[in-house]
Amino acid sequence: MALSIEDLHSIQLGAWPTPLRPNPTLGQVVGIPDLWIKRDDLTGFSWGGNKVRAVEYLIADALRAGATEVVLAGGPSSNFAAVMAAAARSVGLGAHQVSYGSEPTDPVAALIAARSVGAQVHFTESPHRAEMETMATSLGRRRVEVGAVPYVVPRGGASDVGALGFIAAAIELDKQADETSDVPTTIVIPLGSGGSTAGLVAGLCCSHRNWKVHAVSVSRAPEDIEEDIVNKSIRCAALAGVTLTSAAVTSCLNVHDGRNPGFGKLSAEQERFATEMSTKTGLLIDPTYNAKTLFWLRDASLNTPILYWHTGGSLGALDFMLSSRRRSHRESQQSTADTESVR
Ligand SMILES: Cc1ncc(COP(=O)(O)O)c(C=O)c1O
Repeated sequence: MALSIEDLHSIQLGAWPTPLRPNPTLGQVVGIPDLWIKRDDLTGFSWGGNKVRAVEYLIADALRAGATEVVLAGGPSSNFAAVMAAAARSVGLGAHQVSYGSEPTDPVAALIAARSVGAQVHFTESPHRAEMETMATSLGRRRVEVGAVPYVVPRGGASDVGALGFIAAAIELDKQADETSDVPTTIVIPLGSGGSTAGLVAGLCCSHRNWKVHAVSVSRAPEDIEEDIVNKSIRCAALAGVTLTSAAVTSCLNVHDGRNPGFGKLSAEQERFATEMSTKTGLLIDPTYNAKTLFWLRDASLNTPILYWHTGGSLGALDFMLSSRRRSHRESQQSTADTESVR
């Protein structure tokens, strides 16, 4: 049976297709002259990024289920949470966000963005990210008791329905490859919750081209996430009417470890590299997903040409710029104070 997403419910929020072009300037910084970019930093809704694709299917599913609000799991710096909250509000649904930890002391752009569209944020008071889903489920139950109809969404929108957004992305890319010559078939993409990679691989498995996806995991060890992705690919393909085998999925998928030195952290070298990429290319490079993945790509020995899937992360890029600015301001004040104490 052919892959078909036309009959599945989605609402259009983004501007599709996102551009697909060679980017020799970024290629030069990364050391891959023949580098193309799929510009999901330009998805065109709210703060943009790859998550707009998942949100189009999740919101449609919530509306079909008669929901009055969404209850979503998302850390304070979650791009997904900010975009999902904006999408919920755009169709008149309420938005609750369950975040790990407690209210951050420093401002976090994604949290400000979610609250700016009216999301109510609840903290788990625990550092364990998995507890967000537990609390989101129990909050959902409490909301039912007061008459609300909640639609509960896991971290990153990585449900089988959310993954459909990247089946649509795979179909979009395959069509662009039909219309454009020399599109690279080796893809590198950041991997967080795994929903985007699962949908992408499911969609690309059904193409006549021999696509290969290299997903760079920034939060979990590859061995702890690969099986989840394969199973999610199979399940979301089934929603789109296709039976996939795990052998078909794994032949298209490679998961790599891009965590070093830890989720959301950059080494001094990675930080310099992220800054160099932004200053030389004008692209927004967020520290958590795209900087880490491009750093991994720089040192990987993949056969070129490469198609890099830029997943956005404008809010994280903004936090990165502000914290770099604050640090250089502190350093310059310190050096002025040191000079004055020597005089
Ligand atoms: C900017 C950005 N890139 C990549 C990802 C990873 O996508 P996924 O969680 O679907 O693996 C995320 C997840 O939140 C993200 O915000």
